[in-house]
Amino acid sequence: MKGIILAGGTATRLFPMTATTSKQLLPVYDRQMIFYPLNTLITAGIKNILIIVAPEHSGQFLNLLGSLFRKYDIHISFEVQSVPRGLAESLILGENHIGDDSVALILGDNIFENDFSAQIKAFKSGGHVFAKKVSDPERFGVVKFNKIIEKPKEWISDYAVTGLYLYDNKCVEMAKKMKPSERGEIEITDINKAYLKKRELEVTLFDGEWLDAGTHNCKRERNFQKFPSNFRKSDRRI
Ligand code: G1P
Repeated sequence: MKGIILAGGTATRLFPMTATTSKQLLPVYDRQMIFYPLNTLITAGIKNILIIVAPEHSGQFLNLLGSLFRKYDIHISFEVQSVPRGLAESLILGENHIGDDSVALILGDNIFENDFSAQIKAFKSGGHVFAKKVSDPERFGVVKFNKIIEKPKEWISDYAVTGLYLYDNKCVEMAKKMKPSERGEIEITDINKAYLKKRELEVTLFDGEWLDAGTHNCKRERNFQKFPSNFRKSDRRI
């Protein structure tokens, strides 16, 4: 299985912090945000990881990660997304990287406490997403039995589809055929819907902590008592 981390985009919701650098290069506790999704993939044994970056930040990513994994058996490559055309465009930009394999796609601003190695290693075909109960479902793609809606205006479900997606090789062709949404983006939610329609989408519900660090009010869930094990106890200010 190949890995893709999405670290493109302009992250306007985090302005002015992202006026000078990429969101995924902002620090979260003691390291840049990108190290958390990298950790999720590497822990699951993924050795080939493509990072999608915006043109203006490509040099910064190369400086940070270009040779960091040289002595390990992990290969990091980069692809530039010239214009942010949606999360699912990464599957098109990553076509050569994916080759004939399946892919674990992770959003560069998603921080998971859970170790999803078992699900990632066991993945065979179709699509597989990971959903978490949240108190602000209007901020996410939400999933309900047989239904996925992006940023629902009316309540549908409290289960957000988080930013880790496992797909078989068919996702590349699906993304190529996908029409942009009203906001002009190829939506990852539409890829998930396509798998759902074919009854090939598996959904895992999880309880561990999860942060979508894409906004300032990356708010704690009501039950957000503990922090990811890789945060030290002394630092609970997130
Ligand atoms: C994106 C996806 C959304 C998903 C979320 C998870 O939203 O479009 O379906 O629930 O990531 O972090 P964004 O954070 O880009 O608004």
